[in-house]
Amino acid sequence: MLDIEDGPSPKKHRRNSKAVDAVAAAERRKQIDAERRQLPAWAARDKLLQLLQEHRTLVLVGETGSGKTTQIPQLLLSARFGSIAASDKFISQNAGEVGPSDDVKSPYEGAGVVDRDGVFRSAVNHEGRTQFNHHTSTGSDVNGVSDHGGPEQQTGIRSVGGSGGSRVYGGAIAVTQPRRVAAMTVARRVAEEMGTKLGDKVGYAIRFEDVTSSSTRIKYMTDGLLLREALVDPMLSRYRVVIIDEAHERTVHTDVLFGLLKGVQVRRGDDFRLIVMSATLDTARFVDYFPGAVAALIRGRQFPVRVMYTAKPEDNYLDAAINATLQVHSDEGEGDILVFLTGQDEIDSAERLLKEHLAALQGSRGASSSGCRELLVLPIYAALPPEQQMKVFEPAPEGQRKAILATNIAETSITIPGVRYVIDTGHVKARDYNAKLGLESLAVVPVSQAQARQRSGRAGREGPGKAFRLYTEADFAVLEPTTPPEITRCNLGSVVLQLKAMGIHDVLGFDFMDPPPRAAILRSLELLYALGALDATGCLTEEVGRRLSRLPVDPMFGRVLLAATEMGCGQEAVAVVAMVSTENVFHTPRQKEREWRAARLKFISREGDHLTLLNVFRGFRELPKESNKARTAWCSDNFINIRAMRKAEDIYEQLVRFLGPPSPPGLGLQLATCGEDSTPLRRALTAGLFPHAAKLQPDGSYRVLATGRQVFLHPSSVLLDRKPDCLVFNELMHTTRTYARDAVAIEARWLPELAPAAFAVKSAAAIAGAGVGTSGGSR
Ligand code: CDP
Ligand code: MG
Repeated sequence: MLDIEDGPSPKKHRRNSKAVDAVAAAERRKQIDAERRQLPAWAARDKLLQLLQEHRTLVLVGETGSGKTTQIPQLLLSARFGSIAASDKFISQNAGEVGPSDDVKSPYEGAGVVDRDGVFRSAVNHEGRTQFNHHTSTGSDVNGVSDHGGPEQQTGIRSVGGSGGSRVYGGAIAVTQPRRVAAMTVARRVAEEMGTKLGDKVGYAIRFEDVTSSSTRIKYMTDGLLLREALVDPMLSRYRVVIIDEAHERTVHTDVLFGLLKGVQVRRGDDFRLIVMSATLDTARFVDYFPGAVAALIRGRQFPVRVMYTAKPEDNYLDAAINATLQVHSDEGEGDILVFLTGQDEIDSAERLLKEHLAALQGSRGASSSGCRELLVLPIYAALPPEQQMKVFEPAPEGQRKAILATNIAETSITIPGVRYVIDTGHVKARDYNAKLGLESLAVVPVSQAQARQRSGRAGREGPGKAFRLYTEADFAVLEPTTPPEITRCNLGSVVLQLKAMGIHDVLGFDFMDPPPRAAILRSLELLYALGALDATGCLTEEVGRRLSRLPVDPMFGRVLLAATEMGCGQEAVAVVAMVSTENVFHTPRQKEREWRAARLKFISREGDHLTLLNVFRGFRELPKESNKARTAWCSDNFINIRAMRKAEDIYEQLVRFLGPPSPPGLGLQLATCGEDSTPLRRALTAGLFPHAAKLQPDGSYRVLATGRQVFLHPSSVLLDRKPDCLVFNELMHTTRTYARDAVAIEARWLPELAPAAFAVKSAAAIAGAGVGTSGGSR
């Protein structure tokens, strides 16, 4: 129940203020109810129910904000369907009838349906400010959906596909989201709409956090979590309906779910409904993939958006974004500004820079020419504390304008009211995986054309808007049309492990919508073999593989935990894994750099970042759990983020429950402590992170033993001052160069002992002497 705000406790209020609250709540409900009825999804209700009576799979496309995520589950909850017999015939009969030929296209996919990208040109003016010219407007074609519909458009929905029967609905509804934040905020909103407490009829579940109960009927969850549920309940028997939302994101979990759900549909017959939803989707692909599927389109409300490009490429999109924001603020009429950036660090610095500029402007000329006195700068990204996230949804106070600095979280999964201007840096942080090197990384890459259109569209939710693309029209033309599915560019270790654990032996033959590269699957099979999770025949080992599949962490970290229980440092390893699973432990305000650096000193372990994090965790746990005050003070004194620590503690306790108790989900393992001796812990880390073992080079960089790749210690690492000869690290990060993040010193001679499958061929001496280009890897 971590990040949940249940509102002020009634006990704190006197009686009359309680009455005032009740009136306010009733007012709010009334208002929410009125809002709901305005949503396009509401108008499409009957038609949608009818389609679901007749089809087992519905591929539903509707503009962001049309009410898909909040309304469709509620609609299904109150709906009653008849029953259908001969379900197997149903599939085969319909498979032939439903084809992609007359498929409904999303307004954003595919040329010729809607092309909202105008022919705007612009020039950089002499002051160095970017000038955006708009010679023409794309005009009404943004409302494209309604422009090319048949008679059914009147109902707000169009359908294609075959026919079928109907059946009885009941049981729970699962709605997956690629992002935790979306699952949380949407569940909260729907609970409010339904007038129930969050976690009661409506709840959410994300990794390490379950806010549901036995009465939960609508469960918002991350796609990864539903995948985990499928591991223990392959038929997903709790659910009558599974909704895969934001399907266009094609996260690796969503893609695996597609394959699994296809199987569930066949086996459960007509006792099951699947809805695949998105604002932007190539519906033909999905109708093709799921037998008996039907595609439908909710007609959205979308106003024209003028799209503008820069005349010349920008050197620095962050600076350009700040300039553009200030420019829109001073030159444009009312409406909030939504700026798409790539990540938290970038957003934090943009926020700071914008505030500095604004303070300077305020000093020099008071109010801006638009009459908007103030620009309210608000960040939104996944790791932001929920109460701060909520701020972006509140309307700007009278006379103020919001500038929302967002990651691609604001592209489709959340709707921010009031936005009329979009500034698109044209970049996004995306997962990338190099199967040959076996390395996964987060890198800033250009967006796809579909993403750029989706971003621009955010400006036209409430009225005509403008989108400023901080790149040239020529650059737009050469962007990828769509983003390739994540499964084709990520580390498949945990996915392959889960498929194996579900008894899907032939992973290469799994019915993927877009099969990942063979090399990536082979690579993950190798990794799992090296970890001891698979035997030489590719079967899951009971001792390691089965256990790893049950742990809600990456197989490499799972292996660390299992090794630690054998090496007598289970408690420390669990703490370390909990800490590395938590973001933003340290608070590092720029203005107080001397202070936080001093505070940090007492936690620093010369042996590495993992041990430093362990020291922080230990310090925090020494304070009594009940004493919120002491904990808050300690965190504040030490520049540590208390929310992150509570999260880490929560993960710690959950992992203990996964490992310790003798009955499932517990694995019945001993969680001993190694006290102050760090060696067992460093050995346990080696036993799981050995694919990320790296050796110091004469030039101060490191070379990854398994791949020969050159990497640099991340500037935040405590090992930077005294680099060890050999280390293992958590992850790689690409910026200007490749950094290894979170590293711990190890002994090279441990590698052949702890990871024989990967290193046995090489003697310890050979590894110790591994030079440039030498591979100690498993291939
Ligand atoms: O899923 P889709 O983008 O189609 O829309 P939705 O998330 O169901 O949102 C429908 C409407 O509900 C939005 O336009 C918002 O007005 C409102 N909403 C909200 O106020 N707060 C939320 N957390 C989610 C939605
Ligand atoms: Mg949605």
